[in-house]
Amino acid sequence: MKTFIVGNWKMNFTVGESSIYLHKLLKRIKTARNLEVAVAPSLIALQPLSLQLDRKKIKLAAQNFYFRDFGAFTGEVSIAQLRGLVDYAIVGHSERRYIFHETDKDIRSKVAAAVRMGITPILCIGETANERDFGETEGVLKDQLLGGLQDVAKEDLDKVIIAYEPVWAISSVKDAKLATPDDIEKSVKIIRKSLEAKFGKETADKIPVLYGGSVNPHNAEAYLSITGVNGLLIGGASLIADQFDDIIEIAKKVIVK
Ligand code: PGA
Repeated sequence: MKTFIVGNWKMNFTVGESSIYLHKLLKRIKTARNLEVAVAPSLIALQPLSLQLDRKKIKLAAQNFYFRDFGAFTGEVSIAQLRGLVDYAIVGHSERRYIFHETDKDIRSKVAAAVRMGITPILCIGETANERDFGETEGVLKDQLLGGLQDVAKEDLDKVIIAYEPVWAISSVKDAKLATPDDIEKSVKIIRKSLEAKFGKETADKIPVLYGGSVNPHNAEAYLSITGVNGLLIGGASLIADQFDDIIEIAKKVIVK
């Protein structure tokens, strides 16, 4: 299976800054076999960046979209409109769930819409600090995972990516903590077992599971070496070219190990 390194720029950089930053990344990044690198700039930068892109090196991901294709939905952009611009789309990020109150139903519809449009959804799931403290991690992960995939046909499941992102480990969250490889391994096991139980091992084995939450060049190797982890979703560190590039270099080393 490929290893995925995905940078989520969130609501950072103007269009001009995004373009300069991408230019910098394209100059330094040397990709490798079995490594897929993608960045998720803000929506308004997708069009200009898609013209500037060398897709052999970096692909584009959307941070958000609406699940209907066209119609009277003022202010929204659909995945149908993003076709041709992006290869991936982040869905269900905790900032969408908790700041913008996206429901499980929204998320499930978005996952299905992306698959229908041939864009790979990166379904983010993860427990909050409270849920973790109350021992609810397993239930939350199963609900978000199987709920999010509910409207995807079994034969399309090889077109989705899961990202495990414990909310308490996301760098911008108040009192964020670093997840240990042990913490992550436990949750990834829950995710993999749930996928197997629901869809069978053969299908489950085709689904990449990424980790996200305060990933940086110091912890990337340890995180990428966890059994069952196929890549990283990176927020803060993806905004610094040196750090993002360092993580890509680390991923290349881990792949050949
Ligand atoms: P972080 O963000 O790397 O800054 O913790 C990860 C994410 O929110 O996807």
